[in-house]
Amino acid sequence: MANLLAGKRALVTGSASGIGAAIVAEFVAQGAIVFGVDKNPSAHQPSTQFDLSDVESLPELVASAENAIGEIDILVNCAGMAIGEFIPDLTWEAYDKTLRVNLHSPVFLMKYLGSKMVKRGYGRIINITSVHGQYSEEKAMSYDVSKGGLNSATRTAALEFAPHDVLVNAIAPGFTDTPISITNGVSELESEWFKTVYVKYAKIPQRRAAQPWEQAKHVAWLSSSENTYCTGQVLLVDGGMSARF
Ligand SMILES: NC(=O)c1ccc[n+]([C@@H]2O[C@H](COP(=O)([O-])OP(=O)(O)OC[C@H]3O[C@@H](n4cnc5c(N)ncnc54)[C@H](O)[C@@H]3O)[C@@H](O)[C@H]2O)c1
Repeated sequence: MANLLAGKRALVTGSASGIGAAIVAEFVAQGAIVFGVDKNPSAHQPSTQFDLSDVESLPELVASAENAIGEIDILVNCAGMAIGEFIPDLTWEAYDKTLRVNLHSPVFLMKYLGSKMVKRGYGRIINITSVHGQYSEEKAMSYDVSKGGLNSATRTAALEFAPHDVLVNAIAPGFTDTPISITNGVSELESEWFKTVYVKYAKIPQRRAAQPWEQAKHVAWLSSSENTYCTGQVLLVDGGMSARF
């Protein structure tokens, strides 16, 4: 379906890479006017370089987005980071930064932009969480806490905003082929562990990782006005991984 988002104005974080860049491309293809936000330069324009761990400066970010494209109809919180650490190695700095980027910034962008959507009587918000929001893993304390928190925040915002046609949902990706999976130059999707457990023995029933556009398609539909009655939900887009015992 083309023009799903015709004329809608969207702020998308994480626009420089991976799933966020795919969301920007899909939104533009569907007729949206997009303002990208990332700490790195984005190919898409207009966009700005902004470090989302700087939660205190979010009002200025919102103002610059509105100056560039006008009032925002759609917010997509996609930027994210992960620092793998066993609990004894957990540092306050890494924990705090992960929570600021993955949880606090999305929550306060929902506050600033969601409140305006409520006043205007229309809005769609999508938070990109993770299968880690519901299922945990060793070496992922900060990340797991941040994604579980964002699933909860999605539901709370959905409840408060529902009477005003501001619908709030989360997409929780499973393994997706992006740079976040690369550590020290090696992608976990190339590891024997992934190829054996997830592919050969089908821990992922579809036996492969997703491509970023396969996440972006769901984000586009859920954030369109075609979605009129789905809010407060977390949609796992994980090739069936979470369906398996
Ligand atoms: N790829 C996967 O397997 C997977 C699985 C589940 C969830 N996710 C989630 O999807 C989202 C997108 O990740 P991705 O896979 O596209 O990875 P990615 O690394 O390609 O993209 C993440 C983007 O977030 C930006 N970012 C990170 N820290 C930032 C900061 N402090 N300020 C501003 N921007 C910042 C990065 O610059 C990057 O452009 C993340 O929230 C991630 O947790 C990814």
